[in-house]
Amino acid sequence: MNFQKRTTRCGILNSSNIGETITVNGWVASNRNLGGLIFIDLRDRTGILQLVVRPDEEPQLAEIAKNIRSEFVIWAKGIVAKRENPNNKIPTGEIEVILSDLGIINPSELPPFEIEDDTNASEELRLKYRYLDLRRPYLQNKLIIRNKLYQIVHQFFYENDFVEVETPVLMKSTPEGARDFLVPSRIHKGKFYALPQSPQIYKQILMISGYDRYVQIVKCFRDEDLRSDRQPEFTQIDCEMSFVEQEDILNMFEKFFVRIWKEILDVDVPVPFPRLSYKTAMERYGSDKPDTRFGMEFSLLNQLFSNSSFQVFQQTIADGGTIAGFKVENGASLSRKQIDFFTDYVKKYGAKGLAYIKFSNNEVSGSIAKFLSSQEIDELKNTFKLQDGDLIFIISDKWAKCLTALGALRLEVARQNGIIESVNGKYNFLWVIDFPLFDWDEEEKRFVAMHHPFTSPKLEDLEILDTNPAQARAIAHDIVLNGAEIGGGSIRIHDSNIQSKMFNLLGLTQDEATEKFGFLLQALKYGAPPHGGIALGLDRIVMSLTNTDNIRDVIAFPKTTSGMSLMDNSPSEVSTKQLNELGIAVKIEE
Ligand code: AMO
Repeated sequence: MNFQKRTTRCGILNSSNIGETITVNGWVASNRNLGGLIFIDLRDRTGILQLVVRPDEEPQLAEIAKNIRSEFVIWAKGIVAKRENPNNKIPTGEIEVILSDLGIINPSELPPFEIEDDTNASEELRLKYRYLDLRRPYLQNKLIIRNKLYQIVHQFFYENDFVEVETPVLMKSTPEGARDFLVPSRIHKGKFYALPQSPQIYKQILMISGYDRYVQIVKCFRDEDLRSDRQPEFTQIDCEMSFVEQEDILNMFEKFFVRIWKEILDVDVPVPFPRLSYKTAMERYGSDKPDTRFGMEFSLLNQLFSNSSFQVFQQTIADGGTIAGFKVENGASLSRKQIDFFTDYVKKYGAKGLAYIKFSNNEVSGSIAKFLSSQEIDELKNTFKLQDGDLIFIISDKWAKCLTALGALRLEVARQNGIIESVNGKYNFLWVIDFPLFDWDEEEKRFVAMHHPFTSPKLEDLEILDTNPAQARAIAHDIVLNGAEIGGGSIRIHDSNIQSKMFNLLGLTQDEATEKFGFLLQALKYGAPPHGGIALGLDRIVMSLTNTDNIRDVIAFPKTTSGMSLMDNSPSEVSTKQLNELGIAVKIEE
């Protein structure tokens, strides 16, 4: 062995260890040679420790120390001493180690960026050298919290009688929602497995098999457009329960989040979490994942403008559309340029335009001021509890378009005004329930499942499935935290006939339903218990626990937004031999 093994770790030492002789192993974070003294900061997973070489007393050590550069792996032995100039920024700041022995275990090339929390190296460079990036305490702390979460998940679900079962990673392709990642079969040429978008069907089958309560920390794969909170492979805490109603699921998972937030952040999360119907969430916040940490709630204005002289409002009301608005406190000071920016912003979300009214120095101005009667102005003042200096933004359009665009605007205004930053540290959990069962797909001109095809309709809406499917609601639940969807689930259909009917409403012929899901329809006929569950986005939970809005910060080896792994350069081409074995020819588009 060419090194002395550590007797302790760098970051856990403090003044109670003064006088002890210790050996540490780690990476050199910095090396400062002040002539009379050489200081080496040594880093391991637990933190940073200052080592000191005194050239006068240990000239051979000084020779070794002079050759040590950043990121060398070394061993060092010495005595823990009190520091003359404590550094209160690090936990070991009151002590240092006066070295009596020292050795280089393995040198390092000059790293392409400094391993520091406050790095200005580009994310691209850091992803290429992910092994160096992962040395930064910023990322290490996040992965360590992720590890804590795994442990509590296992404890919590074990205590609550859940059984962890592993489900296949190679399964049948049944795309619904996102695209599948496909894996070609060598033995059955021309046939493909799919990687699971979620273990949804397997967990339902486990309920039919009597496992009663299932949990799995599981990788899921979705070939969809990526965003800052989406990865092509991500992790779910996937659960299913038998003989339950929605209420039982919500209660269980509220307990779960209370436990996580207490154990990891020492924060008491109040229960029960607020529950908003999808309709209320949309009409109040313009989102099915509302951030309720701040106000700027909407008011619906159809009634108020029922006699409006403004032609756009008249038309919207005549067409059965929606007029809604929200107040921006002190927004009257917004410049024309800022308002133009917001107008362009809502257009990206499909709105045709943005109306605004300013109330300042007892005067009413803005794009639609000239159309307002004094009665409407009084009613607006009442509705929005207006103060001098406020502004109201209003959109009138079809229900979903109006509210979605206004919801996006609410968030953008909050971002620009520093409101979102000011509520950092607040945790607003809530449930969104009573989702519509179906969404109309304009492109395909057919209904698609809003959640997934296995979600049960509300029993009272079973009758309207044939007559008015658009109005049918689902027994589905999403859990939302600070405007992020951190989980979703539902009560499932456990009656084979209703499941068949559902496939039919989704546009599958009987043959297609049998080809794709025959095994499930069959299984449902052999004594399926009532069941339901939820899947939580583990990565997104860690994002909130570690206060980042970049999902790549909480995944050890993430993909870029174009689905690349820059460190190992995947996806990559494969050899002709491999392709031949699979019976695959690659068609490259010009
Ligand atoms: P759903 O599709 O809503 O439900 O997924 C559950 C949760 O997983 C997280 N999530 C993602 N996280 C990161 N990157 C992605 N690409 C990504 N996609 C989803 C979200 C989401 O709320 N089988 C159902 C669950 C059920 O019905 O029990 C399902 O997968 O936080």
